[in-house]
Amino acid sequence: MTDMNQNNQDVQQGFGHEKVETNNFLMIVLILLVISIGGLVEIVPLFYQKSTTEPIKGLQPYTPLQLAGRDVYLREGCYNCHSQMIRPLRAETLRYGHYSVAGEFVYDHPFQWGSKRTGPDLQRVGGKYSDEWQRLHLINPRDLVPESIMPAYPWLEEAPVNTEIGKNMEALRKVGVPYSDAQIAEAAAAVEGKTEMDAIIAYMQVLGIHLK
Ligand code: HEC
Repeated sequence: MTDMNQNNQDVQQGFGHEKVETNNFLMIVLILLVISIGGLVEIVPLFYQKSTTEPIKGLQPYTPLQLAGRDVYLREGCYNCHSQMIRPLRAETLRYGHYSVAGEFVYDHPFQWGSKRTGPDLQRVGGKYSDEWQRLHLINPRDLVPESIMPAYPWLEEAPVNTEIGKNMEALRKVGVPYSDAQIAEAAAAVEGKTEMDAIIAYMQVLGIHLK
């Protein structure tokens, strides 16, 4: 009984707490105040930051040929079977190498993390095989991996690469990829005479090489 009296007294004296707890309006105003302080502390700094994610050391925007290859990758739907995202789990890093970090994807619009792995993850496939291996594999995967269920893409050998790739680079520059005027002007010449096969191989060979 004495304990309870003591408690009641605490409530009545303690910083006017009873007033807050028994006044709906005051309670709402104070809750909003507390929440907005928390929100502002998290949100306001973002307005003064150029990007929340800095590119990792050595990361370069795709060359015109690599970029054209990336477009072929999208068009052919390679992402339906291949992810580009190594999770920080032991089984994944043992198989594929260093796990993916956000700074590797800053020039990817949109990124190709994917969510389905019918085939292996491709995030670190750059440099894993020779260009010739990649070429033969894309012409007919079964020539190199007899049990493979990956489709063949022989037409990439005959298809000339998109020489308008400079326009894509201009568009990417608008969303923050640092291409220079000179790089864009020289893009058509850089991919002249190349096939879509050359382009997609160039793209495969640059994947994930900055964090080996
Ligand atoms: C129907 C699913 C499917 C599609 C679509 C697909 N692949 Fe594959 N891919 C696989 C499978 C399964 C393997 C594993 C067997 C093999 O190596 O052929 C594989 C393996 C690979 C490998 C070797 C990876 C390694 O680490 O050994 C590369 C590179 C690759 N694919 C690139 C591509 C590209 C580029 C495209 C699009 C042009 C593509 N794949 C489309 C299923 C697919």
